[in-house]
Amino acid sequence: MMQVGVVGAGAMGSGIAQVAAQNGHQVVLSDTSDAALERSKSKLAKVMSRLVEKGRLEEADANAIQNRISYTTVLDDFSGCGLVIEAIIEDLGVKRALFRQLEGIVSPECVLATNTSSLSVAAIAASVSESKRVIGIHFFNPAPLMPLVEIVPAVQTADDLTGKMRELIERWKKVPVIAKDTPGFIVNRVARPFYGEALRLYEEGVADFATIDHAMKKEGGFKMGPFELMDFIGNDVNYAVTESVFAAFYYDPRYKPSFTQKRHAEAGWLGRKSGRGYYDYTDGASRLLSEAPDANKDPKLAGDICWRIVVMLINEAADALYMNIASREDIDLAMTKGVNYPKGLLQWADEAGIVNCVETMDRLYDEYREDRYRCSPLLRKMAREGRKFYD
Ligand SMILES: NC(=O)c1ccc[n+]([C@@H]2O[C@H](COP(=O)([O-])OP(=O)(O)OC[C@H]3O[C@@H](n4cnc5c(N)ncnc54)[C@H](O)[C@@H]3O)[C@@H](O)[C@H]2O)c1
Repeated sequence: MMQVGVVGAGAMGSGIAQVAAQNGHQVVLSDTSDAALERSKSKLAKVMSRLVEKGRLEEADANAIQNRISYTTVLDDFSGCGLVIEAIIEDLGVKRALFRQLEGIVSPECVLATNTSSLSVAAIAASVSESKRVIGIHFFNPAPLMPLVEIVPAVQTADDLTGKMRELIERWKKVPVIAKDTPGFIVNRVARPFYGEALRLYEEGVADFATIDHAMKKEGGFKMGPFELMDFIGNDVNYAVTESVFAAFYYDPRYKPSFTQKRHAEAGWLGRKSGRGYYDYTDGASRLLSEAPDANKDPKLAGDICWRIVVMLINEAADALYMNIASREDIDLAMTKGVNYPKGLLQWADEAGIVNCVETMDRLYDEYREDRYRCSPLLRKMAREGRKFYD
């Protein structure tokens, strides 16, 4: 079986190495930092022994998985790999330098993949002379648990490579979707209103954090409310993604970041990891699993809040389809398998009624006169023609 290389032994690289090793590959995992390699190794040992304790894995298999991963600081050790997945820091210059270096080490047949969340795969591919062997393979955190993988061919990627990587990811028992090389791919683009519109509702004084979170869980069936989720992801990280998507879309107002989140990040109120975010975690109590006590549970208010956020998400999903970012099925799969949405947004549009979605978007636009609320031309066309996404 093909040997797999992973560069970067942080959160993502360690998880990807585990997935490849669990699927029988010999894995070479490298990092510039010895400490990162040590951390990665001992974290995997803990995860494996927990799985054995729970009876989910035989001890022999756990040992075999760990033995399949070799840890190194020397890139030359990648010479025998058929696939190398890069998961180092999110910096285009550093990634390009790494790909150039890798090209001189691996065989001409070796596939070079990037796990970037926000950079252009084309820009990374352009750093090597054989750009057609470069592709985006974007896992979600934590990689061993999240089923979704976005496969992102660059304009230079060889035509048959996308299908081959899709098959590989399926063999790894993951759910692959194919996304165009555009900012945020599918998930990090379509999910923006979940945070952005929730922050906007708060800033307008419609409701407080707890009430908005309650609305999305109770009325929408989401596992976490937007503020709980931002606290979980970290306000610094979530804000940075929003800002980079906003800039990458040439400052389209639809993706405009929020001052509320920026101030939280600046204040060091990052969320769970800093003990305080939109909620207080200092006593170790997790508000994630229990209902926030001070939420206004008025069903009419909850319904209005939830629908405004959901219709913005539907509009974003429809626009991603309209712009050929991915297929209808892949857009819905991405949101259910990558961020645990209770159902696909295009399916949700069908159930809520496309005409209803268009009317709400137009009402918001009339009220605010902001481009943020412009209705996707696809929704408008479908409403006119009486069509559904899934006929
Ligand atoms: N964290 C997430 O939720 C997430 C999800 C999907 C994709 N990503 C992407 O995955 C990549 C890694 O993210 P992460 O969260 O694992 O970061 P991380 O900071 O946890 O790990 C990055 C690792 O790369 C190492 N590194 C840095 N420069 C290196 C180099 N030149 N050569 C070898 N190793 C180097 C660092 O020592 C560190 O151990 C980024 O491109 C990020 O955008 C992150």
